[in-house]
Amino acid sequence: MGRDFTSILDVSSDELHGLLDMALGMKRDGYPPVLKGQTLAMVFEKPSLRTRTSFEMAMRRLGGEGLYLSGHEVQMGEREPVRDVARVLSRMVQAIAARTYAHLTVTDLAKYADIPVINALSDDEHPCQAVADLLTLRERFGSLAGLQFAYIGDGNNVGRSLAYASVMTGAHLLISAPHGYELDHESMEIARALPGGGSVTQVADPHEAVRNVAAVYTDVWASMGQEHERTKRAEAFREFQVNAALIASAPSDALIMHDLPAHRGEEITDEVIESSRSIVWDQAENRMHAQQAILARILGGQ
Ligand code: CP
Ligand code: NVA
Repeated sequence: MGRDFTSILDVSSDELHGLLDMALGMKRDGYPPVLKGQTLAMVFEKPSLRTRTSFEMAMRRLGGEGLYLSGHEVQMGEREPVRDVARVLSRMVQAIAARTYAHLTVTDLAKYADIPVINALSDDEHPCQAVADLLTLRERFGSLAGLQFAYIGDGNNVGRSLAYASVMTGAHLLISAPHGYELDHESMEIARALPGGGSVTQVADPHEAVRNVAAVYTDVWASMGQEHERTKRAEAFREFQVNAALIASAPSDALIMHDLPAHRGEEITDEVIESSRSIVWDQAENRMHAQQAILARILGGQ
């Protein structure tokens, strides 16, 4: 695994499988404090519950510590250039996790930092989430090879990282989004060219997309930074709500996934997220185990 994790594309298919094996092992057996004395600076331009907590807890469990820096305080690109933030943090801490609006901010941090930079969500990608999601599926189904699941929602950060990660691990992802909100053509081309044996297919009708799947995944309709489009998006995504009617089109044992936070009554109904088939809390917990593996690999040389 390389120095940075700004995109799921920073790891090879074998490395991604290795990360999942390691995370499963750490969840089962625990892990020694291989990051003793190391600090991860966490610069967050957007709010977070899971990502911040899982990074902090993962560092703590590995013997190191996380240092949270609010975006309001650091004001990357406003108070000072992103490259200066990267250089200063490189002199004081051992790694940076950044949650940003522009993906370019994460890649610029990586370019100018002398230390590893991890994407904690940008407008384009959410690679740590994808690792946790595949970990959750592997836990449930044993293997990802040939596993079919659906992502019903916006073709942006979560969908994109999930698409790449699915192909790389042999899973088959069916994406269903309203016209104009699909995963873009370039990302589809990148996904299709990846090794690993999986696939990504876009299906216009969400009922058709979920027909033969092991799990149905959704994400918010208006992502952080798109709140002003909430009404317009609610209209566009209306037929794509993960509700009882949609789940009735899926196999009766299909599981329900959501990266959270969930907007009940928008992309998912209360009934579906609270159902016994929902594995969203496992996904949330697995953020911590996934992050532990990522940090141990990048910072601990494991
Ligand atoms: N899923 C996720 O990234 O949650 P937070 O935005 O709370 O970190
Ligand atoms: N797509 C969502 C994911 C939140 C974890 C967002 O970017 O807000």
